[in-house]
Amino acid sequence: MGCQYFAPCDEGADTFTIAMPKLTFGRGCLAEAGVRVAARGMTRIALFTDPYLKEGPYVATVLKSIRDAGLETAIFSEIRIEADDTSVKNAASFIAGGNFDGVVSVGGGSVMDTAKAAMVYGLYPRDEFLDYFPPPLGAGEPIPGALLPHLACPTTSGTGSECTSLSVIRINDLNTKLVLGNPLLLPDEALVDPACCDSLPGNIVASTGFDLLSHAIECYTSKAYTRWAKVTDPRKRPYVQGANPWSDLSATRALQLVGQFLERGVRDASDTEARDQLMWGATLAGMAFGNSGTHLPHALSYGITHLMRDITTEDYAVASPFIPHGISVIASAPAIFRYAAAGAPERHLEAATSLGVDTSDAGNDDAGELVAGRVIELMKNTGMPNGIGELGFAEADVKSLAASAVRQVRPIANAPRETNLQDIENIYTAALSYG
Ligand SMILES: [Fe+2]
Repeated sequence: MGCQYFAPCDEGADTFTIAMPKLTFGRGCLAEAGVRVAARGMTRIALFTDPYLKEGPYVATVLKSIRDAGLETAIFSEIRIEADDTSVKNAASFIAGGNFDGVVSVGGGSVMDTAKAAMVYGLYPRDEFLDYFPPPLGAGEPIPGALLPHLACPTTSGTGSECTSLSVIRINDLNTKLVLGNPLLLPDEALVDPACCDSLPGNIVASTGFDLLSHAIECYTSKAYTRWAKVTDPRKRPYVQGANPWSDLSATRALQLVGQFLERGVRDASDTEARDQLMWGATLAGMAFGNSGTHLPHALSYGITHLMRDITTEDYAVASPFIPHGISVIASAPAIFRYAAAGAPERHLEAATSLGVDTSDAGNDDAGELVAGRVIELMKNTGMPNGIGELGFAEADVKSLAASAVRQVRPIANAPRETNLQDIENIYTAALSYG
């Protein structure tokens, strides 16, 4: 079945690339930071973190380790949750003026993504910030050269950014998020220490867990790489190359783990087995989507964060309006799976099985409902909003949401079905509430 999904297509791609950092996983591995960066020849390190982590134990562990190795560091911590171009520009100035030969990032996706983009703009500045971003909003210009070596240390179990060549940045003037994607952005090395999640509130474990869940489903159900255009210049092979056998492996395991452990990890901070497995699942899902790309749930999440109004989310110490990334992704995901399953029904059935659904008597027509039903069940059991209506949106907002989301051209093209503006409007309408 898996092989059929990758059947050759006329003019379609017949190759795919796997890109991965060297990765160390396990409790206590943060203390290896100094040895790791010394082995890469770093002597003066730019350490990126956020204002909340800066004085905490994880940054202290990394700093001690680096200093014990006899290396210099300078810290940049003015990074907002859901990184924006203002913090990237400030971080780029920090890189440009710091005479650094390496970067360490300690934090969630916002921190790692800011570190990646700061190197791009610090080393290769542009007057027009969007030059390196993809069309239609960006100019799609190539990044001119190599970045600094980067050791990424995630502190949440969702983003997977330590495994991807992506940086998601909010562009304040456009009031939307855009994805900077380039193989040069892939961290060289990662330390994934699940102890970083021990003190996370359940609500944050839930929202980041749904990000990982959606990464994994989106990878597994995205358009096959053989249906993207043949790659004639290997230097230009996009990171959004579609589902492929590598992404299948890691996405499948990630789905099994999140299906088994999400509710436990959210409910009980002392359940280290569940939280460790969610951290591993997030890393696996990062390995998957970093090599396949996401599709509609992420594309439609950007319409939601573009147009959000008076809303904040419990346990996140940021100003209103704010909707965590994972919640903005999962809120319309069940409606998307119901819609998208017709384009890849076997894949949706397999995803439902991985999430713990008994699909032994199910057929292709049941696929979308089975995935959606399981995701809704997990959302209800972990206190997530029951659709975008609970995020403050109504029927009257649907056209604006769709007009914003439709600008995410590449992820929309990575969906298993061709999807137009009307389809997106229909999905948002169906996502207002799940009853
Ligand atoms: Fe995500």
